[in-house]
Amino acid sequence: MGLLSGKRAVVVGVANKRSIAWGIAKAFDREGASLLMTYQIERFRENLATLATELTQVPELLPLDVADSESLAHFVAALDQVTGEHGIDIFVHSIANANREDLEGRFVDTSRDGFLHALEVSAFSLPLLTRALLPAFERAGGGSVMTMTYRGSERVMPNYNVMGVAKAALESSVRYLAYDLGRERIRVNAISAGPVKTLAMSAVKGGSQALHSVSERSPIPENISTDDIGNAAVFLGSDWSRLVTGQVLFVDSGSHIMGY
Ligand SMILES: NC(=O)c1ccc[n+]([C@@H]2O[C@H](COP(=O)([O-])OP(=O)(O)OC[C@H]3O[C@@H](n4cnc5c(N)ncnc54)[C@H](O)[C@@H]3O)[C@@H](O)[C@H]2O)c1
Repeated sequence: MGLLSGKRAVVVGVANKRSIAWGIAKAFDREGASLLMTYQIERFRENLATLATELTQVPELLPLDVADSESLAHFVAALDQVTGEHGIDIFVHSIANANREDLEGRFVDTSRDGFLHALEVSAFSLPLLTRALLPAFERAGGGSVMTMTYRGSERVMPNYNVMGVAKAALESSVRYLAYDLGRERIRVNAISAGPVKTLAMSAVKGGSQALHSVSERSPIPENISTDDIGNAAVFLGSDWSRLVTGQVLFVDSGSHIMGY
C-alpha cells in the first residue's frame, strides 16, 4: 500500500524528463496514484508517451495550452468523462512561461503584453484550472491542489524579473484559494523549490548560477532534485497533510533562511 493508493491525480506541466512535474508524477506513481497528465504541444506529447512507459499504471494524456481558449475548452469538456465517478483527489499545477526577452535585463523594461502573458500563464492558470476541476474534486469529497513557486517572489533574483512578480501573484492566489475552498475540504499549497536545471530555468539568463549558490551557501550543501520535490509533493497529496493549507513549503536545502 502506497501513501497515495486509490487516489487519482491530474498533473499539468511535464515537458520532458527534467521537468519538476515528471519528478512528481514518478513519486505519485510509486505511491499508488493513478494519473491524468497534460501536454502543451505535440513534441511534449511524444516525450510524455515515452516517459509514461516507466510508470506502473498507464496514465491518461490530454492536450492543454492554458493560453489558448480552444484548447482550454476541449480540456474542460473532457474532464467529466476522464475523471469519472471517482473524480480527482490531487491537482498538480507546475507551469510557467514568460517571453525570453523579459527574463534578462531590467524589469522596468517589461512590455504590457509580456507582463500580461507571464501573469496569465504562470499565475491566473492556477485559479482557472482549479475552478474547472471543482466538480471532479467534489465527487472525490475534497482533495489537494499544489503549485510550484520560487523565492524570486519575495527577494530580487537578477533577470527573474516579471516571473518574480507572477510568483508573488501565484503565492497570494494559493492563500485566497485555500480560504475559498477549505469548507469543501480542498487544501491548496505551494512548493517553493530551489533551482533545478529544467527548460523553464534555462530561459532565465544566468539561471544556472543559482545552482552554485545553493550547493555553496545553503544549510544543507546539496542541490535539489526533482525526486526531492516529488517526495514533498507526496506529503501534500496524501492524507498526512489533511489540515495543511495556504502554505508555501520550501524544498530548497534551507537556502531561504540565509541572510546573504
Ligand atoms: N526549475 C527551477 O529551478 C524551478 C524552481 C522553482 C519553481 N519552478 C517552477 O516549477 C514549475 C515547472 O517548471 P520546470 O522547472 O519543471 O520547467 P519545465 O519547462 O520542465 O516545465 C514548465 C511547464 O510549463 C508548461 N507550460 C508553459 N506554458 C504553458 C501553457 N501556455 N499551457 C500549458 N502548459 C504550459 C510547459 O509545457 C512545461 O511543461 C514552474 O512553475 C516553474 O516556475 C522551477
